[in-house]
Amino acid sequence: MSILDLVLFPDERLRVECAPVEEVTDEIRTLLDDMAETMYDAPGIGLAAPQIGDLRRIIVVDCGHDSEAEAEHKPNLLKLVNPEIVASRGSKKSEEGCLSIPEIRETIKRAEEIDLRALNEHGEEIELSASGLLAVALQHEIDHLNGVLFIDYLSKLKKQLIRTKLNRLRELAETR
Ligand code: NI
Repeated sequence: MSILDLVLFPDERLRVECAPVEEVTDEIRTLLDDMAETMYDAPGIGLAAPQIGDLRRIIVVDCGHDSEAEAEHKPNLLKLVNPEIVASRGSKKSEEGCLSIPEIRETIKRAEEIDLRALNEHGEEIELSASGLLAVALQHEIDHLNGVLFIDYLSKLKKQLIRTKLNRLRELAETR
């Protein structure tokens, strides 16, 4: 397994409508493993393929474990291919961040519960329902596959402030 380089905002690859995967092959399984390792290393709770420069509909999500004993086995790691939200209910505001937009956290409104269809790493069709943090993470990652970023839900003014902050951070990094 290897840790992949993260694509950072405003890279154009984060704005692409990603292509569906036709067949879940060994190459896809390796990519899923590498994406999971990259997510844990960051650390983050979700990662979408365009964030590592691969423009296919693939995401990994892990919203954590209940105990240290579980931590090693990663029981909550989801590796999803061609994920699709088929139903959503309610709405809830919560704070989000993104590995491609470091240092920025904002409150975003999303569906509270979702039903989702996807292929698992064996190419089998699965259905799952999610609420709470998992529902938020899944909606955030699936947005990435459509070229949508969480800051797109903010007002124009707020987006401008974020752009200014990110430019300042980049300048600081370059002068270091
Ligand atoms: Ni993100």
